[in-house]
Amino acid sequence: MKGVILAGGLGTRLNPLTKVTNKHLLPVYNKPMIFYPIDTLIKAGITEIMVVTGGPHSGGFMSILKNGHELGIKHLEYAYQEKEGGIADALSLAENFAEGDSITVILGDNTSDADISSAVAGFKEGALIFLKEVADPERFGIATFDPQDPSKIIKITEKPQNPDSKWAVTGVYIYDKQVFDFIREIKPSLRGELEITDVNNKYVEKSKLAWSELKGYWRDAGTFDTLLEANNYWAGKPKERK
Ligand code: G1P
Repeated sequence: MKGVILAGGLGTRLNPLTKVTNKHLLPVYNKPMIFYPIDTLIKAGITEIMVVTGGPHSGGFMSILKNGHELGIKHLEYAYQEKEGGIADALSLAENFAEGDSITVILGDNTSDADISSAVAGFKEGALIFLKEVADPERFGIATFDPQDPSKIIKITEKPQNPDSKWAVTGVYIYDKQVFDFIREIKPSLRGELEITDVNNKYVEKSKLAWSELKGYWRDAGTFDTLLEANNYWAGKPKERK
């Protein structure tokens, strides 16, 4: 399976830091943020990776990642997202790269020590999303479970004011090739973006959305507080496991 890291956007929640660099190149302890999702993919045996980026500081990715070999990537490609079209729009740029295969997708600001290798190896079709219980569900895509069968998701709501659960959609997803058709079918949300949550709800409609708990540490480092938390976590982790 191939992997896609979505690292576009203007990172406005981290202004003024993101006036001079891309959010995903900011430090998380001793590495740029994007090294963490790359490590997650490499640990899962995924060594063909596309980085989708955009915005004024996209050149920095090449300076840091180069051809990816130092990080264990065998084949690295880049795509450039023209506008602020949202996560699903960024993912659409990976269609040719995927070549009709399933793909593992990670948002570039997600840092985790979870091992997703068995999920990747066992994936067959549909979509598999990774959830984590959180204290602040208003910040995330949140799962609503079937009251008759709590293992089944009946809907995902993006940043709900009155969340149905505390189970947040992390930025780690595995999709089959249908994902690109679903992206073509969805419409921009009120904030003018193609939302990954709408894509996931397409899989729900087709009864093709499975989920699994993301075991281990996980933080989306997209705000000052979570960026600090992620820095502290990785700084405190025993060296051999970093
Ligand atoms: C995005 C997704 C959201 C998900 C989150 C995880 O939100 O839209 O569903 O829960 O990533 O990091 P954003 O960080 O773009 O606000």
